[in-house]
Amino acid sequence: MNIGTTIIKCRHSVRKFKDTKIEDWIIQDVLECARLAPTSMNLQPWLFGTITDPELKKKIAGLTDHGKFIADAQVCFAIFGEKSAKYYLEDCCAATENMILALQSYGIGSCWVAGDKRDYAESIRLLLHVPEAYTLVSLLPVGFAADITLPDKKDIRAVTFSDIYSEN
Ligand SMILES: Cc1cc2nc3c(=O)[nH]c(=O)nc-3n(C[C@H](O)[C@H](O)[C@H](O)COP(=O)(O)O)c2cc1C
Repeated sequence: MNIGTTIIKCRHSVRKFKDTKIEDWIIQDVLECARLAPTSMNLQPWLFGTITDPELKKKIAGLTDHGKFIADAQVCFAIFGEKSAKYYLEDCCAATENMILALQSYGIGSCWVAGDKRDYAESIRLLLHVPEAYTLVSLLPVGFAADITLPDKKDIRAVTFSDIYSEN
């Protein structure tokens, strides 16, 4: 039994949240885990927003197409990447996953909501007064789970290969 892999395997996207408050020190620890993610050339090209204001959460939810549940989250993180960094997308995705797993380790659920490539990315940047040099990569609504759905996952044999790939 390995605590790290158990946390990874127990994670599922959560879109229904309880009203239970998340303590500030946990939020800070999650941000610390984001800050420590790997980045190309150690550029750390990011900004992490922590949104708790109910009206702001509602506005963000309203701007998204598949993130209406953001309004009910205790906290919504907004992860922005600095566009001038060649690998800002990969870097910010690594930070987002660090945050998801840190939250899971506290028994707190979350759901990655797309930011990058979505038309609403710019509206959310403007709403939060984030400088133009940054673009939204992901939104991460967070809270204790009220409900979880378990999606199907591909069989490990269908998605792995050893040495040279072959169809068989
Ligand atoms: C880049 C990315 C964007 C996503 N965007 C959304 C989204 O906009 N709305 C949503 O409800 N889920 C979103 N998800 C969550 C996926 O739907 C979810 O990870 C997938 O269904 C697998 O479920 P699981 O996370 O429980 O393993 C996104 C996930 C990723 C990685």
